[in-house]
Amino acid sequence: MSTIYLIGFMGSGKSTIGKALSRAMNGSYVDTDAYIEEKHQQHIKDMFAELGEDVFRTYESEALKELTSFDIVSTGGGIVEREENITVMRENGKIVYLQADFTDIIERLQHDDTRPLWNPDEIDSMKALFERRQAMYKEAADITIHTSGKAILDIVEEIRQLT
Ligand code: S3P
Repeated sequence: MSTIYLIGFMGSGKSTIGKALSRAMNGSYVDTDAYIEEKHQQHIKDMFAELGEDVFRTYESEALKELTSFDIVSTGGGIVEREENITVMRENGKIVYLQADFTDIIERLQHDDTRPLWNPDEIDSMKALFERRQAMYKEAADITIHTSGKAILDIVEEIRQLT
């Protein structure tokens, strides 16, 4: 089967849903962020601090090309920042956008200090990033799934029916 790519903002549930989907479909699963951390033996937050975002984005594009044989791939929220990534995903499978409300994102990330681009003290600029990315996710996606207020297994079922 071709790969299902889950895209969406930080905290939109890509990893949780990716794992549940892989169980339901009995398919192989990988998370690009986890793969990058394992491959480069460094936490993403430290990569951003020590090497800068551009180096991370290059690692991310390389990872995407290396992971084309998986059935389900959860991506980092910034995967749409490079057009070449969208091309790779389009050519190799289906892109599913998990659209969560910004209020849900704030709640899920309120105690998170692992994400270098998330700062709960700057909610206006977080909202601006969310809005900018939202347009990019919609443009890139083959399928958009609204996740707010839905149970994980219902979202999984929706993805299975639409892909
Ligand atoms: C990023 C999202 C993160 C991670 C990195 C950059 C982004 O992944 O790839 O911190 O630019 O939105 P999650 O979407 O899994 O949090």
